[in-house]
Amino acid sequence: MKRLLNEYREFFGEFRSRFETTGAVAPSGRFLASALCRPLRSRTGPVRVLEVGPGTGAVTRQIVKLLTPGDRFDLVELNENFVDTLNRRFEQEADFRAAAEFSAVHLCPLQEFQAEEPYDYVISGLPLNNFSAALVEEIFESYWRLLAPAGTLSYFEYMYVRPFRRLVSKPTEKLRLADLEKVLNEQLTSHRIARDWVFVNLPPAWVQHLRREPAAAAV
Ligand SMILES: C[S@@+](CC[C@H](N)C(=O)[O-])C[C@H]1O[C@@H](n2cnc3c(N)ncnc32)[C@H](O)[C@@H]1O
Repeated sequence: MKRLLNEYREFFGEFRSRFETTGAVAPSGRFLASALCRPLRSRTGPVRVLEVGPGTGAVTRQIVKLLTPGDRFDLVELNENFVDTLNRRFEQEADFRAAAEFSAVHLCPLQEFQAEEPYDYVISGLPLNNFSAALVEEIFESYWRLLAPAGTLSYFEYMYVRPFRRLVSKPTEKLRLADLEKVLNEQLTSHRIARDWVFVNLPPAWVQHLRREPAAAAV
């Protein structure tokens, strides 16, 4: 309980000082984390997993439980305070420790992250709704660059945030949201294989699952 409270306190502090990149007031709830891990749960052999924007590790906590020796797990986070927290968890918490030997936390933006081999699962918590359309295009280029041909990308977005924000915002912000909507819809139209509705989360969220060739997939 104390650990959870500290996690919430840290997350909220980072939200206040870095609103744009933190993008939420609290870490994801366990139902949202579970939906993000749904494709990974059907793994068959050894897997390579990339988590993007792990924050304090709310989703990481579920990912590490699904991993076994022989897998590879990389985490990319641009906030150094969150990186310290994650490294501490990999040292101190049993579930994290069990995966520590084949895991690494990288302090950098996703767009600069290079990997030796592509990943079977990319699980992302990036707050895309806070970014410009151009940055989101760059982020999707990175997702596809890092994802194996038959790999799955899973990311979440809070339900109906863009239409709601469009109603209450100024013209320049309305324009940004419209451009963003276009970029995201193009990705979803071409690549979506499934969408999970997670109502038990604050706020409720959709989890989008995408593949390069959606026709060949089912999750
Ligand atoms: C909405 S929080 C999600 C945290 C966690 N995954 C969760 O669900 O509770 C977004 C996270 O993405 C990180 N982030 C934002 N932009 C990033 C980027 N370009 N590359 C890597 N991490 C980024 C933030 O620092 C923050 O930890």
